[in-house]
Amino acid sequence: MAGVTELTVGQVAMRSGVAVSALHFYEARGLIRSHRTSGNQRRYGRDVLRRVAIIRIAQEVGISLAEIGAALESLPEGRTPTREDWNLLSTAWRDQLDQKIAQLKKLRDGLTDCIGCGCMSIDKCPLRNKEDRLGAQGPGARRLLVAR
Ligand code: FES
Repeated sequence: MAGVTELTVGQVAMRSGVAVSALHFYEARGLIRSHRTSGNQRRYGRDVLRRVAIIRIAQEVGISLAEIGAALESLPEGRTPTREDWNLLSTAWRDQLDQKIAQLKKLRDGLTDCIGCGCMSIDKCPLRNKEDRLGAQGPGARRLLVAR
């Protein structure tokens, strides 16, 4: 498949590991695009594999399809995006990704400590959250929140 520039939906599914039904869903949401042959068959440009890979990874780290769609809209229409195009996208997405990374780090590192949720159930809670004083700041695990 290496030299092939136009891919069928089956080839995209095989190479990307994404089900045909999911590809159709991504297309219906405007995240990927195909064109039709004279026989009304879908054909995708090879760059669709990069889009699908990024959609999947972004979803796995909790970025919504709407956010992914907004980011992918910055890519040019009608031509294969260049590295510069992807760089523009990543710049636009950087703050959001940095925030998710910070949130994941807080979660990873906070699990052995008081997270300020009001439970007062572990030995560090009285020290970190005396009489649940963090509850006055608002709901949720106050010590896990990342400033937006
Ligand atoms: S872990 Fe819940 S208040 Fe400390």
